[in-house]
Parts: sequence; structure tokens; C-alpha cells
Amino acid sequence: MHILSIDVGIKNLAHCLVKVNSDKRYDIVLWDTVNLSEGLLPICSNPNCKDLAKYTNRNNTIFCNKHAKNTDLIIPDKSILKYKSLKLSVLNDLVKKYELPVPNEKITKAVLSKVIEEFLNGEEMSFFIISDGQSYKMFGTAQDHKRVFEGDKGKNTGGMGAYSPSRLQSDKLNQKIINKIIEPTLNGLKKLNSEYKGFLYAGLMIVNEEPFLIEYNVRMGDPEAEVVIPRLTSDLLHLLKGINDGTFSEKDLEITKDVAATVMLVSGGYPEDYAKGKTISGLELIENSLIFHSGTKNDGCLKTNGGRVMAITSLCEKMSIALSNSFKNAERVAFEGKYYRKDIGFDL
Ligand code: GLY
Repeated sequence: MHILSIDVGIKNLAHCLVKVNSDKRYDIVLWDTVNLSEGLLPICSNPNCKDLAKYTNRNNTIFCNKHAKNTDLIIPDKSILKYKSLKLSVLNDLVKKYELPVPNEKITKAVLSKVIEEFLNGEEMSFFIISDGQSYKMFGTAQDHKRVFEGDKGKNTGGMGAYSPSRLQSDKLNQKIINKIIEPTLNGLKKLNSEYKGFLYAGLMIVNEEPFLIEYNVRMGDPEAEVVIPRLTSDLLHLLKGINDGTFSEKDLEITKDVAATVMLVSGGYPEDYAKGKTISGLELIENSLIFHSGTKNDGCLKTNGGRVMAITSLCEKMSIALSNSFKNAERVAFEGKYYRKDIGFDL
């Protein structure tokens, strides 16, 4: 079975968090209102100048967590320009509001010109919910492999493969994520008179079984969608329709116990320069997998048309078999420059 494009356009439903995501000042208001006190948000009990570095500035969101250690800091050198818009007045407001030490010139410069992030030494997990603005349902978990090369080496990509559920998933962890992150966020949005409708994707770092929020996306992930949605045994369209007509809370959302794995075939060179227009063959040989096209086009015959060409998903009782089916099928598809990681799910 081949499905053309998994980009389901759910973003349209996500009107209010889009606003949050596109207006960085609004992020601060949101976090402030949400007050994820246990997991993320201020306040450092005995701040000193060094502690200012614990107040992470990511998407202009200032937060820290209680487990921060002065030694565990990294200053990434990428994406800096994006964050330069943090205004001195915003910094000053935060310093005042949270009774932070008045930063000296050096720290002010660092905050204004660099993203200072606490280094969280843990494992990533993607956690999804779907909401109608009043209630929400868990939509599953996944783990993706972002680096381009095997052994998690090389540049970050949109995702070279994923599996669902995350191997970290447990009832206890789910409950912590809901209590500390998801419900405070949805309640915070309500306080802002925003009804959040649609998918909410929490990008988490799990450190010693504690969840830390790294980012929110107002969409499903890619390639997480390719492993989360195939596990859904309820009708997705009924759920989405329920959001629209007020019957969402009555709808079932059931997820199979079967597990899913996906392997992304990419054009050689991705995520940097790569060639397009390479003829793709072998799809007729695929067995026991779903193909999700992303960078392909029909040009008389099927050709590559992007860096991430297609995801090959397999659903099975056992992760080892799902992975093996996807790898076998990844071999069967051919195009010049084809590359994929052969160690997706390696940490299982
Ligand atoms: N796989 C990461 C993302 O969709 O943002």
C-alpha cells in the first residue's frame, strides 16, 4: 500500500499555538502563565550571577530546572542569529520579575548574543496529544533519530527514522509528563483565553526518568507521524471531525499494542546539497510495509524531488521484525545516491 504524503495539514487547526510559536514575546507570557514549576520554570532559590546561565533562553523562553548543575552547560554556536531579537528590556523585565541578580555586562552580552542552554544528559522522546480545546487525548509516543549518519554522527536532519512507542514509555512517565507539562500548558492556554485545537507535540528530554520540555510543535512530527498514525486503530477522521463539531470527547482513541518502525530514504548529500530528479524503482517489490512519500514527484515515472525521499514503515508485534521489514524494503527501493541509516532502533 502506498500513501502519497503524510502532510495532513493539521496546522490549520492549531490556530492558537501557531500564534505562540510565531510571536516570541507570547512564549514568555505562556510559560509564565503555565508555570511549569516542577519541571521547568523559574525560580532559582538562591540565584547568583553564575545561576543566570541556568536560565535557558530558547525561543526567547526563559526557564531553568531545579536539577541544573553549573558544570552541565553548553553554549551552542548554531541558530544564534535567530535569537538575537531578545530585547534588553525583556531581559530586564525577567530579572526584575524573578528577582534574578542584576547581570553584569558580560552576562548580559552572553544572554543577548548567545543561546545559553543547560546541557540535559538524557534521552529524547516525542510525546503527542490531540485536543479540542476542552479535553485532550494521548496520541502516542515515538523516538526519532535526527543525525544523518549511523551512531548518531553528523548533522541534524528532520529525522532519519523513528519508532513507536518510545522505549522510555511507561504509565508512570506518561503521568509525570501529563501532570508537569501537558496539563499546565493546556490550562495556561485557557487562562490566555486560547482554545488549543489539534495536535500538540512535546519534544522532551528524559533525564533519570524525569521529563524536561525542550520544545513544542503545533503539528505531528516527521517521521514520528509515520510511526504514530499507523498504530491508531480508531478512525482519525472521526476524531478530527469531533474536534470541529464538539463531539471529540465522545470519540474513542485506541492505539494498537503492535509497534512501528520507519526508515527514511534520503538523497545522497542531504541535509546539505543533494541532487533531484533521480529515477526511483523497486516500489513494486515492497512487502509488509507502508511507503510515505515526501520528496518524490511523478514525472512520467517516479523521481526524487527532495532530500527526504520516502519513509518505509512496518507495523508488527515485535520491534525487531518491524525494523527488519523496513530495512529489507529499504534495500529493494533504488535511486542514484540513495542513503539510509541501518541502525534505526539501535538503542532498543
Ligand atoms: N522529527 C522532528 C520534527 O518533526 O520536528
